[in-house]
Amino acid sequence: MESDKCFALITGASGGIGFELALIMASQKHNLILTARTGKKLENLAKQLRLKHNVTVHTFTADLAITEERNKLIQFVRSGGFTVEILVNNAGFGDLGPFAEADQEKLMRMIRLNIEALTRLSHEFLPDMLKARYGKILNVASLAGFMPGPLMSVYYASKAYVLSLSDALAHETKGTGVTITSLSPGPVITGFQEAAEFKNPALMKMMPSATAGEVAEFAYNAMMKGKKRAVHGRMHRLAVFLLRFLPVEFVTPLVSRLHQ
Ligand SMILES: NC(=O)c1ccc[n+]([C@@H]2O[C@H](COP(=O)([O-])OP(=O)(O)OC[C@H]3O[C@@H](n4cnc5c(N)ncnc54)[C@H](OP(=O)(O)O)[C@@H]3O)[C@@H](O)[C@H]2O)c1
Repeated sequence: MESDKCFALITGASGGIGFELALIMASQKHNLILTARTGKKLENLAKQLRLKHNVTVHTFTADLAITEERNKLIQFVRSGGFTVEILVNNAGFGDLGPFAEADQEKLMRMIRLNIEALTRLSHEFLPDMLKARYGKILNVASLAGFMPGPLMSVYYASKAYVLSLSDALAHETKGTGVTITSLSPGPVITGFQEAAEFKNPALMKMMPSATAGEVAEFAYNAMMKGKKRAVHGRMHRLAVFLLRFLPVEFVTPLVSRLHQ
């Protein structure tokens, strides 16, 4: 395989964790395909990475919640003859507030992005990785995926899907040379809070926040080692361990309080 045709495809690379992953991966000499809705930010980042690290960087502007735009991204990869040897399914967003009062279109868009786009892209590129007996998929889940999340219910449920799918695919691909890693960060200060319309909920005061750079570095190392689950932060790993023993009746009201 020509190495100059091998790429890491990163979704949601225009800001936050995806942006930081692009910086790290370019520094590690991965050629990149960067995608998000804001083309200008992608192009600025691509220019910087080409200059600094001498890697090939393509950008593709697409709203991945829209089927046609997602298909155009796939077409772009296919017609360019690019091999996606690393897929980072990072693009995603949340929404804070009671389910019954939420903007219905926003909820459906969240499902189309957090669940559908991640599934579609994984299903598109995994068979090629298996054929090549090499590949890596990093799915950005969340600590939220480990519990129900009143007042952010669809987001938490979407991340539970990401965790479950990733665990299952990690099992299906065992011993094939392809690895699937789920990343579960706790709160990270990014564009996420604005997109989710956070108005200073208890969560942001009570839980430690990480930087996008710290989380991206942790995620990159875990993915390269082929780890199945990567929960960022010692306290969060302890929380995930304890959640195994705590009844859902105890956890659910606690999470609800964190969102008030
Ligand atoms: N921040 C946190 O506290 C936190 C915690 C746990 C997990 N996560 C997860 O981490 C991932 C990255 O989020 P982040 O914190 O880095 O937030 P962010 O700064 O808002 O970044 C989200 C990225 O996704 C892109 N995006 C949003 N909607 C899109 C769409 N419809 N189509 C294509 N791209 C889209 C955004 O770019 P454009 O706006 O240019 O499209 C941006 O590049 C998400 O999956 C999130 O659920 C975040």
